[in-house]
Amino acid sequence: MLKGRHLVDPQDFSIQELESIFELTQEIINKPEDFNSICHGKILSTLFYEPSTRTRFSFEAAMLRLGGGVIGFSEPGSSSVAKGESLADTLRTVAAYADIIAMRHPNEGAPKHGIKYCPVPLINGGDGGHQHPTQTLTDLFTILESKGRLDNLTIGCCGDLKFGRTVHSLIKAMSRYENVKFILVSPKELQVPDYIRTEILEQRNIQFQEVERLEEVIDQMDILYMTRVQKERFFNEADYVRLKDSYIVDLKKLKDAKEDLAILHPLPRVNEIAIEVDEDPRAWYFRQVKNGMFVRMGLILKLLGVK
Ligand code: CP
Repeated sequence: MLKGRHLVDPQDFSIQELESIFELTQEIINKPEDFNSICHGKILSTLFYEPSTRTRFSFEAAMLRLGGGVIGFSEPGSSSVAKGESLADTLRTVAAYADIIAMRHPNEGAPKHGIKYCPVPLINGGDGGHQHPTQTLTDLFTILESKGRLDNLTIGCCGDLKFGRTVHSLIKAMSRYENVKFILVSPKELQVPDYIRTEILEQRNIQFQEVERLEEVIDQMDILYMTRVQKERFFNEADYVRLKDSYIVDLKKLKDAKEDLAILHPLPRVNEIAIEVDEDPRAWYFRQVKNGMFVRMGLILKLLGVK
Protein backbone atom coordinates (compact mmCIF):
# COMPACT_ATOMS: atom_id res chain seq x y z
CA MET A 1 0.00 0.00 0.00
CA LEU A 2 1.71 3.18 -1.15
CA LYS A 3 -1.04 5.67 -0.22
CA GLY A 4 0.25 8.37 2.14
CA ARG A 5 3.88 7.17 2.02
CA HIS A 6 6.99 9.35 1.56
CA LEU A 7 9.78 8.58 -0.92
CA VAL A 8 13.20 9.56 0.44
CA ASP A 9 15.44 6.65 -0.51
CA PRO A 10 15.17 4.26 -3.49
CA GLN A 11 14.86 1.38 -1.04
CA ASP A 12 11.79 2.85 0.68
CA PHE A 13 9.63 0.78 -1.68
CA SER A 14 9.75 -2.98 -2.10
CA ILE A 15 10.39 -4.58 -5.48
CA GLN A 16 6.67 -5.47 -5.65
CA GLU A 17 5.70 -1.86 -4.91
CA LEU A 18 8.03 -0.65 -7.67
CA GLU A 19 6.45 -3.15 -10.05
CA SER A 20 3.00 -1.79 -9.23
CA ILE A 21 4.19 1.75 -10.08
CA PHE A 22 5.70 0.54 -13.36
CA GLU A 23 2.49 -1.32 -14.31
CA LEU A 24 0.47 1.83 -13.70
CA THR A 25 3.05 3.88 -15.63
CA GLN A 26 2.63 1.56 -18.62
CA GLU A 27 -1.17 1.93 -18.41
CA ILE A 28 -0.75 5.72 -18.46
CA ILE A 29 1.58 5.55 -21.50
CA ASN A 30 -0.86 3.25 -23.29
CA LYS A 31 -3.96 5.37 -22.63
CA PRO A 32 -3.11 8.84 -21.24
CA GLU A 33 -6.63 10.13 -21.95
CA ASP A 34 -8.01 7.85 -19.24
CA PHE A 35 -5.98 9.74 -16.65
CA ASN A 36 -6.27 13.37 -17.72
CA SER A 37 -8.69 14.50 -15.01
CA ILE A 38 -8.12 11.85 -12.37
CA CYS A 39 -6.39 14.31 -9.98
CA HIS A 40 -8.94 17.10 -10.38
CA GLY A 41 -8.92 19.12 -7.13
CA LYS A 42 -5.53 17.83 -5.99
CA ILE A 43 -2.45 20.05 -5.64
CA LEU A 44 1.24 19.20 -5.98
CA SER A 45 3.82 21.55 -4.51
CA THR A 46 7.35 21.64 -5.92
CA LEU A 47 9.90 23.10 -3.50
CA PHE A 48 13.20 23.35 -5.36
CA TYR A 49 16.05 24.77 -3.31
CA GLU A 50 18.43 23.84 -6.18
CA PRO A 51 18.23 24.25 -9.96
CA SER A 52 16.43 21.65 -12.04
CA THR A 53 14.93 21.25 -15.48
CA ARG A 54 13.79 17.62 -15.76
CA THR A 55 12.79 16.80 -12.20
CA ARG A 56 10.74 19.91 -11.50
CA PHE A 57 9.16 20.26 -14.93
CA SER A 58 8.34 16.56 -15.15
CA PHE A 59 6.68 16.60 -11.72
CA GLU A 60 4.67 19.66 -12.66
CA ALA A 61 3.79 18.31 -16.11
CA ALA A 62 2.81 15.02 -14.49
CA MET A 63 0.34 16.68 -12.11
CA LEU A 64 -1.06 18.96 -14.83
CA ARG A 65 -1.54 15.96 -17.15
CA LEU A 66 -3.44 14.23 -14.35
CA GLY A 67 -5.80 17.22 -14.12
CA GLY A 68 -4.43 18.59 -10.84
CA GLY A 69 -2.83 21.91 -9.93
CA VAL A 70 0.72 22.95 -9.03
CA ILE A 71 2.18 25.52 -6.60
CA GLY A 72 5.77 26.01 -5.52
CA PHE A 73 9.10 27.70 -6.04
CA SER A 74 12.13 27.07 -8.21
CA GLU A 75 14.20 29.55 -6.26
CA PRO A 76 13.87 29.59 -2.44
CA GLY A 77 14.88 33.28 -2.40
CA SER A 78 11.40 34.10 -3.70
CA SER A 79 9.79 32.52 -0.62
CA SER A 80 10.01 33.13 3.13
CA VAL A 81 13.05 30.86 3.17
CA ALA A 82 14.85 34.13 2.37
CA LYS A 83 13.61 35.47 5.73
CA GLY A 84 15.13 32.53 7.55
CA GLU A 85 12.15 30.16 7.73
CA SER A 86 13.20 26.62 8.66
CA LEU A 87 12.63 23.63 6.42
CA ALA A 88 10.28 22.17 9.05
CA ASP A 89 8.08 25.27 9.10
CA THR A 90 8.08 25.58 5.31
CA LEU A 91 6.96 21.97 4.95
CA ARG A 92 4.27 22.31 7.65
CA THR A 93 2.96 25.40 5.90
CA VAL A 94 3.00 24.05 2.36
CA ALA A 95 1.38 20.80 3.52
CA ALA A 96 -1.58 22.91 4.65
CA TYR A 97 -2.12 23.91 1.00
CA ALA A 98 -0.93 20.93 -1.04
CA ASP A 99 -1.77 17.22 -1.10
CA ILE A 100 1.73 16.09 -2.06
CA ILE A 101 5.17 17.73 -2.12
CA ALA A 102 8.26 17.14 -4.30
CA MET A 103 11.41 18.76 -2.91
CA ARG A 104 15.01 19.15 -4.05
CA HIS A 105 17.46 20.36 -1.42
CA PRO A 106 21.26 20.83 -1.41
CA ASN A 107 21.64 19.30 2.08
CA GLU A 108 22.05 15.55 2.25
CA GLY A 109 19.42 14.16 4.60
CA ALA A 110 17.08 17.18 4.29
CA PRO A 111 14.12 15.03 3.11
CA LYS A 112 14.72 12.48 5.88
CA HIS A 113 14.55 15.34 8.37
CA GLY A 114 11.61 16.92 6.53
CA ILE A 115 9.25 13.94 6.69
CA LYS A 116 9.04 14.39 10.47
CA TYR A 117 7.14 17.61 9.89
CA CYS A 118 5.27 16.79 6.69
CA PRO A 119 1.78 15.30 7.05
CA VAL A 120 1.40 14.75 3.27
CA PRO A 121 3.61 12.55 1.04
CA LEU A 122 7.06 14.11 0.59
CA ILE A 123 9.10 13.02 -2.42
CA ASN A 124 12.85 13.51 -2.51
CA GLY A 125 13.74 15.16 -5.82
CA GLY A 126 17.47 14.96 -5.00
CA ASP A 127 19.36 15.77 -1.79
CA GLY A 128 22.92 16.99 -2.29
CA GLY A 129 25.26 14.25 -3.51
CA HIS A 130 23.16 11.64 -1.71
CA GLN A 131 20.08 10.15 -3.43
CA HIS A 132 17.66 10.87 -6.27
CA PRO A 133 14.98 8.17 -6.00
CA THR A 134 12.55 9.41 -8.67
CA GLN A 135 15.41 9.51 -11.19
CA THR A 136 15.97 5.89 -10.21
CA LEU A 137 12.32 5.00 -10.84
CA THR A 138 12.76 6.57 -14.27
CA ASP A 139 16.02 4.68 -14.85
CA LEU A 140 14.56 1.34 -13.79
CA PHE A 141 11.50 1.82 -15.98
CA THR A 142 13.73 2.72 -18.94
CA ILE A 143 15.97 -0.31 -18.34
CA LEU A 144 12.86 -2.50 -18.18
CA GLU A 145 11.57 -0.98 -21.40
CA SER A 146 14.88 -1.36 -23.24
CA LYS A 147 15.95 -4.80 -21.96
CA GLY A 148 12.65 -6.37 -20.87
CA ARG A 149 14.12 -7.25 -17.46
CA LEU A 150 15.82 -5.85 -14.36
CA ASP A 151 17.87 -8.95 -13.54
CA ASN A 152 20.83 -10.63 -15.27
CA LEU A 153 22.38 -7.37 -16.40
CA THR A 154 25.86 -5.90 -16.53
CA ILE A 155 25.55 -2.22 -15.77
CA GLY A 156 28.36 0.20 -16.50
CA CYS A 157 28.32 3.49 -14.59
CA CYS A 158 30.73 6.04 -15.96
CA GLY A 159 31.87 9.50 -14.91
CA ASP A 160 31.54 11.21 -11.55
CA LEU A 161 30.55 8.30 -9.32
CA LYS A 162 31.51 10.11 -6.13
CA PHE A 163 29.16 13.08 -6.20
CA GLY A 164 26.64 11.67 -8.70
CA ARG A 165 23.54 10.99 -6.60
CA THR A 166 21.75 9.31 -9.50
CA VAL A 167 24.46 6.63 -9.61
CA HIS A 168 24.24 6.03 -5.85
CA SER A 169 20.48 5.56 -6.08
CA LEU A 170 20.76 3.35 -9.16
CA ILE A 171 23.30 1.03 -7.52
CA LYS A 172 21.16 0.79 -4.38
CA ALA A 173 18.05 -0.05 -6.36
CA MET A 174 19.57 -2.42 -8.95
CA SER A 175 21.56 -4.39 -6.40
CA ARG A 176 18.27 -5.89 -5.18
CA TYR A 177 17.82 -7.81 -8.45
CA GLU A 178 19.33 -11.21 -9.29
CA ASN A 179 22.67 -11.50 -11.03
CA VAL A 180 23.29 -7.81 -11.60
CA LYS A 181 26.95 -6.86 -12.05
CA PHE A 182 28.45 -3.39 -12.02
CA ILE A 183 31.39 -1.97 -13.91
CA LEU A 184 32.31 1.35 -12.31
CA VAL A 185 34.31 3.57 -14.62
CA SER A 186 35.79 6.72 -13.13
CA PRO A 187 39.04 8.45 -12.24
CA LYS A 188 40.31 7.35 -8.82
CA GLU A 189 39.30 10.71 -7.34
CA LEU A 190 35.69 10.21 -8.38
CA GLN A 191 35.07 6.59 -7.37
CA VAL A 192 31.87 5.66 -5.54
CA PRO A 193 31.75 6.62 -1.84
CA ASP A 194 32.88 3.94 0.62
CA TYR A 195 29.36 3.33 1.94
CA ILE A 196 28.18 2.29 -1.54
CA ARG A 197 31.13 -0.11 -1.88
CA THR A 198 30.91 -1.62 1.61
CA GLU A 199 27.27 -1.33 2.69
CA ILE A 200 25.70 -2.13 -0.68
CA LEU A 201 28.05 -3.89 -3.09
CA GLU A 202 30.24 -5.92 -0.72
CA GLN A 203 27.57 -6.63 1.87
CA ARG A 204 25.20 -8.00 -0.78
CA ASN A 205 27.95 -9.93 -2.58
CA ILE A 206 27.37 -8.01 -5.79
CA GLN A 207 30.01 -8.55 -8.46
CA PHE A 208 31.69 -5.26 -9.38
CA GLN A 209 34.92 -3.91 -10.80
CA GLU A 210 36.37 -0.42 -10.73
CA VAL A 211 38.34 0.74 -13.77
CA GLU A 212 39.58 4.02 -15.19
CA ARG A 213 39.12 3.52 -18.92
CA LEU A 214 35.77 2.99 -20.59
CA GLU A 215 37.32 1.48 -23.75
CA GLU A 216 38.58 -1.53 -21.80
CA VAL A 217 35.14 -2.63 -20.60
CA ILE A 218 32.45 -1.19 -22.87
CA ASP A 219 32.07 -4.51 -24.73
CA GLN A 220 30.81 -6.23 -21.55
CA MET A 221 27.96 -3.84 -20.79
CA ASP A 222 24.20 -4.25 -21.28
CA ILE A 223 23.56 -0.77 -19.87
CA LEU A 224 25.90 2.20 -19.99
CA TYR A 225 24.85 4.84 -17.47
CA MET A 226 26.76 8.02 -18.27
CA THR A 227 27.14 10.95 -15.92
CA ARG A 228 28.77 14.32 -16.13
CA VAL A 229 32.46 14.59 -15.21
CA GLN A 230 33.26 18.07 -14.10
CA LYS A 231 36.71 19.44 -14.62
CA GLU A 232 36.55 21.25 -11.27
CA ARG A 233 36.21 17.93 -9.41
CA PHE A 234 39.71 16.78 -10.42
CA PHE A 235 42.55 17.41 -8.07
CA ASN A 236 44.97 18.28 -10.82
CA GLU A 237 44.83 19.41 -14.43
CA ALA A 238 47.19 16.65 -15.66
CA ASP A 239 44.80 13.87 -14.56
CA TYR A 240 41.89 15.64 -16.19
CA VAL A 241 43.74 15.98 -19.49
CA ARG A 242 44.85 12.32 -19.31
CA LEU A 243 41.35 10.98 -18.73
CA LYS A 244 38.90 13.45 -20.15
CA ASP A 245 38.49 11.77 -23.54
CA SER A 246 37.94 8.37 -21.91
CA TYR A 247 34.63 9.66 -20.72
CA ILE A 248 33.27 10.97 -23.98
CA VAL A 249 31.12 8.36 -25.68
CA ASP A 250 31.17 8.69 -29.45
CA LEU A 251 30.41 6.34 -32.33
CA LYS A 252 34.04 5.22 -32.50
CA LYS A 253 33.94 4.04 -28.90
CA LEU A 254 30.60 2.32 -29.47
CA LYS A 255 32.14 0.09 -32.19
CA ASP A 256 33.14 -2.38 -29.47
CA ALA A 257 29.83 -2.14 -27.60
CA LYS A 258 26.99 -4.66 -27.80
CA GLU A 259 24.44 -4.01 -30.52
CA ASP A 260 21.67 -3.96 -27.94
CA LEU A 261 23.50 -1.79 -25.41
CA ALA A 262 21.19 0.82 -23.87
CA ILE A 263 22.87 4.16 -23.12
CA LEU A 264 21.23 6.11 -20.32
CA HIS A 265 22.06 9.48 -18.83
CA PRO A 266 20.09 11.38 -16.18
CA LEU A 267 21.02 14.61 -18.01
CA PRO A 268 21.95 17.43 -18.23
CA ARG A 269 24.71 16.43 -20.61
CA VAL A 270 27.71 18.66 -21.13
CA ASN A 271 30.01 16.85 -23.57
CA GLU A 272 30.24 13.28 -22.24
CA ILE A 273 28.02 11.91 -25.00
CA ALA A 274 28.83 13.16 -28.50
CA ILE A 275 25.83 14.59 -30.34
CA GLU A 276 26.38 12.01 -33.12
CA VAL A 277 25.28 9.28 -30.69
CA ASP A 278 21.80 10.81 -30.32
CA GLU A 279 20.63 9.13 -33.54
CA ASP A 280 22.07 5.73 -32.63
CA PRO A 281 19.36 3.20 -31.64
CA ARG A 282 21.36 2.52 -28.47
CA ALA A 283 20.71 6.07 -27.21
CA TRP A 284 17.86 5.89 -24.70
CA TYR A 285 18.42 9.11 -22.77
CA PHE A 286 15.74 11.23 -24.39
CA ARG A 287 13.25 8.39 -24.07
CA GLN A 288 14.36 8.30 -20.42
CA VAL A 289 13.44 12.01 -20.11
CA LYS A 290 9.90 11.32 -21.30
CA ASN A 291 9.57 8.24 -19.12
CA GLY A 292 10.43 10.48 -16.15
CA MET A 293 7.14 12.31 -16.54
CA PHE A 294 5.06 9.14 -16.94
CA VAL A 295 6.73 7.43 -13.99
CA ARG A 296 6.06 10.50 -11.82
CA MET A 297 2.39 10.42 -12.92
CA GLY A 298 2.23 6.83 -11.69
CA LEU A 299 4.02 7.72 -8.47
CA ILE A 300 1.72 10.67 -7.70
CA LEU A 301 -1.36 8.49 -8.21
CA LYS A 302 0.00 5.76 -5.96
CA LEU A 303 1.04 8.11 -3.13
CA LEU A 304 -2.29 9.96 -3.28
CA GLY A 305 -4.18 6.68 -3.45
CA VAL A 306 -6.13 7.92 -6.48
CA LYS A 307 -7.66 5.10 -8.49
N1 CP B 1 18.04 14.33 -14.05
C1 CP B 1 17.89 15.45 -13.31
O1 CP B 1 17.77 15.41 -12.08
O2 CP B 1 17.83 16.59 -14.06
P1 CP B 1 17.55 18.03 -13.46
O3 CP B 1 18.69 18.40 -12.58
O4 CP B 1 17.40 18.91 -14.67
O5 CP B 1 16.27 17.93 -12.67
